[in-house]
Amino acid sequence: MARKILTVVGARPQFIKAAVLSAALRQVATEVLVHTGQHYDQNLSRVFFDQLPLPTPDVALGVGSGTHGEQTGEMLKRLDPVIQREQPDWVLVYGDTNSTLAGALAAAKLQVPVAHVEAGLRSYNRAMPEEVNRVLTDHLAARLYCPAPFAARQLALEGITQGVSVVGDVMDEALALVPERPASWLGTLGLQAGGYHLATVHRQENTDDGRRLAAIITALGTLPGPVVWPMHPRTRARLDQAGSHLPAGIRVVEPVGYPESLALIRHARAVVTDSGGVQREAGLLGVPCYILRTETEWLDLLEGGHAVLVPEPGDLAAAMASGQARGQARSAATGVAAAIVSDLIQA
Ligand code: UD1
Ligand code: UDP
Repeated sequence: MARKILTVVGARPQFIKAAVLSAALRQVATEVLVHTGQHYDQNLSRVFFDQLPLPTPDVALGVGSGTHGEQTGEMLKRLDPVIQREQPDWVLVYGDTNSTLAGALAAAKLQVPVAHVEAGLRSYNRAMPEEVNRVLTDHLAARLYCPAPFAARQLALEGITQGVSVVGDVMDEALALVPERPASWLGTLGLQAGGYHLATVHRQENTDDGRRLAAIITALGTLPGPVVWPMHPRTRARLDQAGSHLPAGIRVVEPVGYPESLALIRHARAVVTDSGGVQREAGLLGVPCYILRTETEWLDLLEGGHAVLVPEPGDLAAAMASGQARGQARSAATGVAAAIVSDLIQA
């Protein structure tokens, strides 16, 4: 009988990653797609199901927003009966969100083996909710799919060597999922290829500290030319609360879909971000990337000179002026989905 895989997703980057695997998975196994409801706005959730080869979720838990405890707890509560009813052979989780941890923990407690895509990444900063989520998920997982050798080495340092494989970065393959928007599409935002900077900022450590968010806005305001900023609702909520006014050069737009996001990255002069996925995509497309964080999990981007860390927002303009990020295209991993699916159905 075909293997049954229960996939748990809930946040924007997970819809993209799951779209890479879902079609391949459904050719050889039964997939039950569970959407926790962590992201629920049309432009953070529905748009990706409309744009990407990702089926409508079989189960929608509708958890929504809350504190970490409320959100994760509610997911656990609602996942339990679904896993018990479906009796999957594996629960498959992606990345490092609260949906990832809830999926892994619910499964492990019900003695269903867990497979983790994007295993072994570490910031070694436990103040990040994502670090807690990924460490715990890796320690619960029986199959760990690493994007690069350094991630497998990091797992080994924690004593995790069984079930680990280096398959490449699933986000690389996502680029081939749908055609990117052409450069002419930028005109709908009043932009021209090479004539703007792209900013995305949504991490808790950048948004929830009002002074730091204000420093980021000031820094973006000093960059030449327009800065287009598809704004995550978390960031918008913080700015609304603070009653902040943005400098004239910053153009806030609603979060965009995936082919639009790729076009914005590809044609930007440079990208300023705290997003994991946007870092990867900038590196792949050869666009210089400035990371508004004190560390990144993606060590290969730093080593390759694709990206530089800018821990202090006030240093952004100087880092850019000295051209610290080289913006050479990175070669894409291939066969990632095929490797994961083939391993999972034989495991
Ligand atoms: C989450 C992940 C983060 C990931 C990001 C991808 C955790 C701990 N964080 O962060 O790792 O990089 O998703 O985008 O899992 N909100 C809305 N509409 C929505 C969703 C959220 O308005 O559809 C607002 C709510 O005010 C909510 C806030 O955004 O409280 C934060 O949402 P949440 O899902 O908790 O975390 P993200 O910041 O999206
Ligand atoms: N993205 C998108 N629309 C946007 C901003 C980002 O489609 O307005 C895409 C981006 O290209 C990448 C993924 O979303 O593929 C990254 O998600 P996000 O930054 O929310 O989360 P992270 O990767 O940091 O967990």
